[in-house]
Amino acid sequence: MIYYFSGTGNSEWAAKELAVLTNDTAEFITKDTKAKYDEKLGIIFPIYAWGVPGPVEDFLKTLEIPEDTYFYAVATCGSNCGRVDDQIMKLTSRKLNAILSLSLPNNYIQGGDCDTPKKAIEKFKKAKPKLLDFANSINNKEVIKVVDRGPLPGLMTEVIHPSFIKYATSDKKFSVNDDCSSCGACVNNCPLDNITLKDGKPIWNGNCSQCTSCINRCPKNAIQYGASKPSRVRYYFKEEYVK
Ligand SMILES: Cc1cc2nc3c(=O)[nH]c(=O)nc-3n(C[C@H](O)[C@H](O)[C@H](O)COP(=O)(O)O)c2cc1C
Ligand code: SF4
Ligand code: SF4
Repeated sequence: MIYYFSGTGNSEWAAKELAVLTNDTAEFITKDTKAKYDEKLGIIFPIYAWGVPGPVEDFLKTLEIPEDTYFYAVATCGSNCGRVDDQIMKLTSRKLNAILSLSLPNNYIQGGDCDTPKKAIEKFKKAKPKLLDFANSINNKEVIKVVDRGPLPGLMTEVIHPSFIKYATSDKKFSVNDDCSSCGACVNNCPLDNITLKDGKPIWNGNCSQCTSCINRCPKNAIQYGASKPSRVRYYFKEEYVK
C-alpha cells in the first residue's frame, strides 16, 4: 500500500504515478486511516520545514510495520529535505529500506512567491526520470537512499522542524478579502476539514497543517497569509505541467 498526504497535489501526483509503476494502490492519509500491511509500504508526503507534516507524523506513530514489509518513503520538496529519513525511523522504530527526496514546485506561499508555471514544468521534467528509477528500485526491493539533505540537515530537522510544528502551524494568519465569491472551494479543498463558511466567507477553525491548499487553490486569490498580497504567485498541481 501507498499512503500519502498532499496540499497542492505534488505528492498526490508522485503517489499515483508510483502506484501505477509499482502495481500498488495509493490512499490519502486522514485521521481515520488504519494502515494495511502487505509486501511493501510506501509513505509519500511534502516536506514541511525539513520534516514530515503533522498529519503524517500522527499516522507514522500508529504504524506497526512487520519486519518482512519493504518500507519506503518519498519526500517531495521545493529543494531539500534535511534528515527526514531519520525522523521517520524514529517515529516508526523501523528502518527505511528506501527513500527518495524529489524536488517539485515550491508551494510555500507563507514565505513569498511560489514557483511559476515555467519553473513547475522544468521541475517535473527533471523529476519524472528520478521517480521512474525509484519505482524500479522498489520493484527490485533495493536498499537505496537518494536524498538531498541541504545545509545543516541535523539542525533543520531536529531543531527548526519541531519549532515549526509548535509555533508556526496556527491558522490565525489566514484572512479573506472582498474578492471572495463564496464559492466554497476552500472548504472542500482543506484536507483537515478546518474551514467553514460564515456569512459566505471562510473561517479557519484551529486545526491546520499549513498545507496551503486553501490559499493556493482559491480561484479569486482572495485568501491571504499575514501580509501577503493577491499578486503573490500561487501554485497548485496541474496536469499540463507533466505532459
Ligand atoms: C509549510 C511548508 C513548509 C515547507 N518546507 C519546505 C522545506 O523545508 N524544504 C523544501 O525544500 N520545501 C519545503 N516546502 C515546499 C513543499 O515541500 C513542496 O512544494 C511540496 O512538493 C508540496 O507538496 P504538495 O503539493 O503535495 O503539497 C514547504 C512547503 C510548505 C507549505
Ligand atoms: S475558495 Fe476563495 S472565493 Fe471560494 S469561498 Fe474560499 S475564499 Fe472565497
Ligand atoms: S486551513 Fe488551509 S492550510 Fe490549513 S490544512 Fe486546511 S487547507 Fe491546509
